Amino acid sequence: MKDFKYLDKNSVYADCACQSLRPQPVIDAVNEYYTKHNSCGERVKYDWGVITDEKVEATRAKALKYVKKSPRRYFVSFTLNTTYGLNLLLSQINIKSAGIKTVVTSDIEHNSPFLSTISCAKKNKIKRIVLTREDDGSLPVDKIPEHSLVVVNCASNIDGRLLVNIKDVVKKVHKSHGYIIIDGAQAMAHSKEILYGVEPDAICFSAHKMYAPSLGGIIIKKDFAKLIDTNFIGGGMVDDVDKETYLLSKDNKEHLYTQFEAGLQAWGEIIGLGAAIDWLNSLTKEDHQRLKDCTERLFDILESKSKIHLINKEPATTMSFYIDKKEMGYDSHVLGAALADAGIMARTGYFCVHYYLDHIKHYPPLVRFSLGYHTRPGDIDRIEEALKNF
Ligand SMILES: Cc1ncc(COP(=O)(O)O)c(C=O)c1O
Repeated sequence: MKDFKYLDKNSVYADCACQSLRPQPVIDAVNEYYTKHNSCGERVKYDWGVITDEKVEATRAKALKYVKKSPRRYFVSFTLNTTYGLNLLLSQINIKSAGIKTVVTSDIEHNSPFLSTISCAKKNKIKRIVLTREDDGSLPVDKIPEHSLVVVNCASNIDGRLLVNIKDVVKKVHKSHGYIIIDGAQAMAHSKEILYGVEPDAICFSAHKMYAPSLGGIIIKKDFAKLIDTNFIGGGMVDDVDKETYLLSKDNKEHLYTQFEAGLQAWGEIIGLGAAIDWLNSLTKEDHQRLKDCTERLFDILESKSKIHLINKEPATTMSFYIDKKEMGYDSHVLGAALADAGIMARTGYFCVHYYLDHIKHYPPLVRFSLGYHTRPGDIDRIEEALKNF
């Protein structure tokens, strides 16, 4: 694809679930910030700062539009990554005011929601339950207690499994006086449609997994944000400060987003996210079809190999498998190193899903291929060749 011209033909990058490759227009947008209007946002009056402010504000609007969320009910704050966003919410939520009695997560979660829910339950001395997701990714709605704070992904980083009953889950949580935070890390690039037509209380995401620079975001309901106490605090969040008191900028309706943005922000990266959203919106039918074809072909290859134990039940841009060390004489890490020698960049291990993959499933370390819009049919040929003895 023309926007990844910098990728040489011998490099097969298959680690998009960690961070996608950045297309040239995103790199150009960040470069433009550094070379044409390098300035602090929201504070400066000179021209460069005005340009930065316009682009940052445009990115907030683009992020909401991208997942079809109304600016009347939601706002966007930028953070470091999904993990940081989840921790900001779970460490500051006023459990008592929210009337929350139980924290709920699921077995297939990344450590990011898994650990932050443990920490939230411990700190607030409330119960935490871990629900088992079905093979199709759905969550058993009947097992969600009343007054729960539910924190789950809507797309898995193991096999791209989706929270297929997200609409029922959100409905049930809200009907039973609870709140739901969605870990959208894996959905934003290739499965954002799952977030259409539902109104979770917050969605945390990582821009670096959606073709943008390293950055995070929280898309949050205005009403839900009122339940989050502001303890993590600093410059950029206050309109006035006295010896022992301060006036939060979030109390000004125009600046709600400042609630989670302590200190100087990653202005160039935020602008890069805006460019990435434009780029994602501009993808053609052919771009989508190429990724679909590559994904299906890789799934067929992996599924056909007797020595490869594929986790995916269905093709997804993220696919994981393990090999049997007894049968092969080596483990997935050794295979990962051999793939690297062949120019193929894949991941090995437990991908920060230790509880499910290691402690529930008792799988050995796995290999994960995750594809993106830069993936070429020739990349799949290379992977097929590398795995020919399986
Ligand atoms: C499903 C899921 N949630 C959360 C995260 C954490 O993302 P980050 O490391 O960008 O905070 C990841 C990262 O791979 C992920 O795949």
